[in-house]
Amino acid sequence: MPNDTGVTKRVGILISGRGSNMMALVEAGIDVALVASDKPDAAGLAWARDHGLSTFALSPKGIGKPAYEAALNVALGDAEVEVIALAGYMRLLSDAFVAAWRGRIVNIHPSLLPKYKGLDTHARAIAAGDAEAGCSVHVVTEELDAGEVLGQELVPILPGDDADALAARVLIAEHRLYPRILAEFVRR
Ligand code: GRF
Repeated sequence: MPNDTGVTKRVGILISGRGSNMMALVEAGIDVALVASDKPDAAGLAWARDHGLSTFALSPKGIGKPAYEAALNVALGDAEVEVIALAGYMRLLSDAFVAAWRGRIVNIHPSLLPKYKGLDTHARAIAAGDAEAGCSVHVVTEELDAGEVLGQELVPILPGDDADALAARVLIAEHRLYPRILAEFVRR
């Protein structure tokens, strides 16, 4: 149920890389309480720090997933995060982590789900001869890219497109779709 109080939930964004979707969320005015990364050298982390955001960086390498996720959970709790937005987060969350945050983790995926779950979505859409590609924002469940779809944006596949050209076109749509859908989600 949407509320009309104007109060929105505090968001923690998880990234692994350049963080362009994170930037789009921040610039759209989403209440970002923490930017966290499993890659301490992720380019997006530097941007987040430069923009005065709280950040958390820890690699699971050497400590293992349970210890990594426990530390991440503490950081999210300390920041009073209520909703987690995955934005180019390239690591699978454990079933226990997803269960602890059930219904409160969303992700952006660069395909028109349920088509092309997982990786290499653009190359697969082109190889299949699809006329349209796009992106989806969905709720994260234990099953990869399979939770409820909250919104999608379609993008044409043009003659001569390779995966990089299509990815660039879809990314522009991602930056429109994710802030719009997340803004609705944090008002629920
Ligand atoms: C995006 O295409 C996102 O859909 C996918 O990984 C990419 C991340 O890009 N999951 P960025 O880090 O947000 O720039």
